[in-house]
Amino acid sequence: MLPPDLTLLAVESSCDDTAAAVLTGGRVVASVVASQRVHAGFGGVVPELASRAHQQLIVPTVEAALAEAGITRDDLTAVAATYGPGLAGSLLVGLSFSKALALGLSVPFVGVNHLEGHVYSVFVDEPSPSFPFLCLTVSGGHTQLVLVEEGFRHTTLGRTRDDAAGEAFDKVGKLLGLGYPGGPVVDRLAATGDPTYHRFPSPRLPAVNGVKGLDFSFSGIKTAVRYHLESLGADREAVLAAHTADLCASFQHAVVRALVSALRDAVRETGVREVAVVGGVSANTGLRAAAQEAADRDGFRLYVPALRYSVDNAAMIAVTAAFKLAAGHVSPLTLQAEPALRL
Ligand code: KG4
Ligand code: ZN
Repeated sequence: MLPPDLTLLAVESSCDDTAAAVLTGGRVVASVVASQRVHAGFGGVVPELASRAHQQLIVPTVEAALAEAGITRDDLTAVAATYGPGLAGSLLVGLSFSKALALGLSVPFVGVNHLEGHVYSVFVDEPSPSFPFLCLTVSGGHTQLVLVEEGFRHTTLGRTRDDAAGEAFDKVGKLLGLGYPGGPVVDRLAATGDPTYHRFPSPRLPAVNGVKGLDFSFSGIKTAVRYHLESLGADREAVLAAHTADLCASFQHAVVRALVSALRDAVRETGVREVAVVGGVSANTGLRAAAQEAADRDGFRLYVPALRYSVDNAAMIAVTAAFKLAAGHVSPLTLQAEPALRL
């Protein structure tokens, strides 16, 4: 239960989205995301451009969230911001802005771990899981499977050893000439392609001494796509013209199968039947469908945030901060940005 007497502004600026949200009366009443357009021509996020864009967007984005909530700054009883992990310059903009606002208003400040924010994104809307629950976080920067217990206790059961799942989608999208970020485009094309067109290696690490771990490796599948395209030689353009959707479907199928099989194993091993899938890649239609199918088959309950709370947003930071405040956590105004923070 989120504290009903709290009116909180949350800011998220860890990567290339400038986001602000307002939580009041125990629920999120405004969530605004200004996606930066400056990176489109570069094939990825340019850190220096991201922090400059945050500087321009932070005030209008916060003002838009306050207006959407129908409140003013003076109504706020707390301020929260993401302090890591993420791009240092980007984090500093949102964090410094939020600490200064909290100082000016003489209200408590709460720093939130971005990954914790993704985990708690399943509490923005109902229904939400009960503790303990298993959480698969699949984003552009992280891929991990965590057991979440009450009181902000997290046990990591598995994680990627190299690239994140979203990173693999983006790199494969780039190889196929689909622009950046590739994830949503690969998803859309995969819906019309044949998943059996080409068999790519599984991103799930093999069993060691008969013991199946819950770790992943996504760099191999990205390299396999590259080698496959190189092996086509002069036929490459013709094959791409005819089979890009089939390649997207085959790649996505391998990724989804690995993620869902690890999830099923984690449910079996822990006996926990409340399961969340969060982060940008949880927007993927193939992953959503396969995870729901597994939930129906194995008898666990699946929670996936609404699409706008799967990708980066500040509503998830607001909800996490509300949980923290309810548990008595307040951060000092000396809190630093921590670009390499882990959960
Ligand atoms: O959570 P997020 O917005 O940012 C990070 O914290 O990283 O995740 C962004 C990632 C990107 O890699 C993007 O390509 C991927 O999520 N993504 C998707 C889809 N929508 C976003 N990947 C696959 N299918 C999608 N529909
Ligand atoms: Zn994220």
